[in-house]
Amino acid sequence: MKKIIAAILSVAMVMSMGVVSFADFTAPRLTNEEWAEYYMSLRDENCLPTLNVGADETQVSLCWHADKAEAKAEVRLSKNADMSDSKLFKGETTPAESESQLVCRVTVTGLEENTEYYYQWFDGKDWSEICEYETKSFGDHKVLVAGDIQITEIYEDGDDSAQIREGLAWNNLLAEALEKNPDVSYFVTPGDNTSSGRTDAEWQTLLMPKVLRSLPMAMAIGNHDKKGMTYNYYTNMPNEYYGKHFRGLDRDFWFRYGDVLYLFFDSTSGDAPDHMAMAKEAVEKNPDAKWRIGVVHHGIYGAGDAIGDLETELLLTTIFAPIFETYDLDLVITGHTHSQGRSHFMEDRKVVETAEGGKTYTDPKGVLYLNASCATSTLVLDTDADHLAYSFNETTPAYSTLEFVGNKMILETRRSDNSELIDTITIERTTDERNENSIGNQLKRLLYKVVEFVGFIYTKIDTLVRMFG
Ligand SMILES: [Fe+2]
Repeated sequence: MKKIIAAILSVAMVMSMGVVSFADFTAPRLTNEEWAEYYMSLRDENCLPTLNVGADETQVSLCWHADKAEAKAEVRLSKNADMSDSKLFKGETTPAESESQLVCRVTVTGLEENTEYYYQWFDGKDWSEICEYETKSFGDHKVLVAGDIQITEIYEDGDDSAQIREGLAWNNLLAEALEKNPDVSYFVTPGDNTSSGRTDAEWQTLLMPKVLRSLPMAMAIGNHDKKGMTYNYYTNMPNEYYGKHFRGLDRDFWFRYGDVLYLFFDSTSGDAPDHMAMAKEAVEKNPDAKWRIGVVHHGIYGAGDAIGDLETELLLTTIFAPIFETYDLDLVITGHTHSQGRSHFMEDRKVVETAEGGKTYTDPKGVLYLNASCATSTLVLDTDADHLAYSFNETTPAYSTLEFVGNKMILETRRSDNSELIDTITIERTTDERNENSIGNQLKRLLYKVVEFVGFIYTKIDTLVRMFG
């Protein structure tokens, strides 16, 4: 009997080795009434912090508003729930959109993997409530992706019913996705975070789900964000690249997490030289990254009504596709059309290899494009295009996960109401070789100088139109 018990115990020990358990995210699904009550308790402020990804997996950043008189850009971090033995991180304050406040930004560094942390920020009066942030593995990891959060503004007559509805949809998408995927490390979104880009209420509602204090976000700029300037005051993205032709909000940025390099482009800017230069910088600083993921707002090979729009088509296929292709990106995440879909492998404006759901592709040629639906509502667009492997034409928003395991990247897309699987595809890389320096790609980048010039002219015209239009 003792031998049997010993055998069972040793099997159990072996099975538990290497298994990392994750504390669940605190992301409750709320009813209309529960959300409305919670929303009303916070709607008249704009001081919820944004937790953003850092330059790499050992960092996260915070950004929040505080009263000008007492604002201090300080965060303290501890491994203990009572905040004992905490470490202080200082950042900088910058002007806010209103005279009475400052924006505080702090980057926390030196994080260790698979570690539970507690943190507080100085809210202008005192240390904030204590929030939890659990790092996961810095190697194999999973990422949550959802498109166009696009919280709407409160209308001039004070009617905020749409904002309440969208805030609840956003909260409950996170609740569903994180309940089924408690092992997610961070969140990626291709922009249109807000609807008007002009009101702090949009960011306040976006930041209301409490789980966002524990889930760092990487957020692209969308055309709706670009209608105003609030993105400037509510985010703290790493390695921001303003380029030579900065016009207020325009910026690209990149970050690294484990084996994955992310390149975020502002697709509302036609500034081709800056986009190409950012890609060059990011790739050259990360020659050992196994995966390269692009994120832009507008979908080149997406689903929905952007297909066939001449300006979008020209802008995207001419300016961005050559960057994605010559820098050999594996996947580009897009949004904008509020329509869920995924492309085949694309290159030179055509399908170079079909990408069927449920299959694994080893060292595929071409770039895969995921078009994320809107996280808070979605259109029903009957999309049919040769570049699409599928489109999901239902009113329920979807979410996706990207899982990096060994030499595989597994992309799954699920319904946000019940997590039923819509699509999955796996890419396997058997080599770390990249072909950005092939003769063909160098030649393409040389020809791209023409695009850079035309893009520069386009940007100047666009600036004039914005000034006088
Ligand atoms: Fe958009």
